Amino acid sequence: MSVVVTGIAELVTQDPWVGVVRDAAVVVEDGLVRWVGPAAGAPAADRSVDVGGRAVVPGFVDSHAHLVFAGDRSAEFAARMAGERYDGGGIATTVAATRAAPDAELRALLAARVAEMRAQGTTTVEVKSGYGLTVADEARALRLAAEVTPETTFLGAHVVPAGADRDAYVALVAGEMLAACAPHARWVDVFCEPASPHAFDADEARAVLLAGRAAGLGLRVHGNQLGPGPGVALAVELGAASVDHCTHLTAADVDALAGSGTVATLLPGVEFSTRSPYPDARRLLDAGVTVALATDCNPGTCFSSSMPLMIALAVREMRMTPAEALRAATAGGAAALRRDDVGVIAPGRRADLTVLDAPSHLHLAYRPGVPLARALALAPMDGPPGRD
Ligand code: NIG
Ligand code: FE
Repeated sequence: MSVVVTGIAELVTQDPWVGVVRDAAVVVEDGLVRWVGPAAGAPAADRSVDVGGRAVVPGFVDSHAHLVFAGDRSAEFAARMAGERYDGGGIATTVAATRAAPDAELRALLAARVAEMRAQGTTTVEVKSGYGLTVADEARALRLAAEVTPETTFLGAHVVPAGADRDAYVALVAGEMLAACAPHARWVDVFCEPASPHAFDADEARAVLLAGRAAGLGLRVHGNQLGPGPGVALAVELGAASVDHCTHLTAADVDALAGSGTVATLLPGVEFSTRSPYPDARRLLDAGVTVALATDCNPGTCFSSSMPLMIALAVREMRMTPAEALRAATAGGAAALRRDDVGVIAPGRRADLTVLDAPSHLHLAYRPGVPLARALALAPMDGPPGRD
């Protein structure tokens, strides 16, 4: 069954050869894009969908989210707005609530969060563990995550759990916990942040990442969020797909990223929700670094699932152009996940189209907080391999 999508006032393809097409059409078949171009030249299809003069963009790729959790930390947020600093200590609250939640509750919370994302135009999402911090609880989080996305990330090295010995915990994460989690994970991630007493230093992070790589996982790093630190250098050294946050970078960090295949993923919702200075996106872009934007949706530092909000923040607060911000939220996220089937609207790619209740992509930043974006129901949400 083929479908031709018409009435597209502006189609932002992110395909470098095609760019932006006005008065466009897209033909979709079997969940894949078959044809893209001016509506006047569109081939016939079995069925047509008229989006009524709206803009269409690639479905957002949210390459960093922590969605498997229970509990509530709104009081921590309120305290922060009253002047408290964020140091990762509140993660323990979520760990306790998550361990106590039955599978059915966690599954329902996760499904609701994924649905909330899709309703705002996200079609690919990465989901991390990291609120279990025991072998059984981390493996459970990843089993549940794998029910909704192939982009599952083992984050046993989120924080050292209360009462645990640091060295023994790192050995557990890199050993028994990794062995239990690797079958359900595509990636391994580490919160490498010596500025936090709860997170991991460069040697600890390296040990976990090398063990993850030996177990067949791709590498990601939480780095340079709370202060300058070794996260970016480590991510580049080990060839990680992405280093995320990048709020505090030295000139050497920027140079290292520019000469690497590691994507810098910026999470401006975190700076918004922790009232912190934003990362210097212009410096990264001007140096030629590939930049992604993601929500980091989590109960501590940013409980927002909205990619349009991240685009608006990137434009308003980080001096990215609307086009750069949209690229970072689509093709940039795809690069951060090393995916070549999403983030771009082109023949052969997944038919992940997001329609905006607006004539152009500029409105994503121009109309902040307005629910303009939704995923067109032409392809199923990016499911685990073999499920679509
Ligand atoms: O990406 N920085 C570490 N982890 C999360 C926050 C987790 C939490 O506070 O619950 C982040 O910001
Ligand atoms: Fe995170």
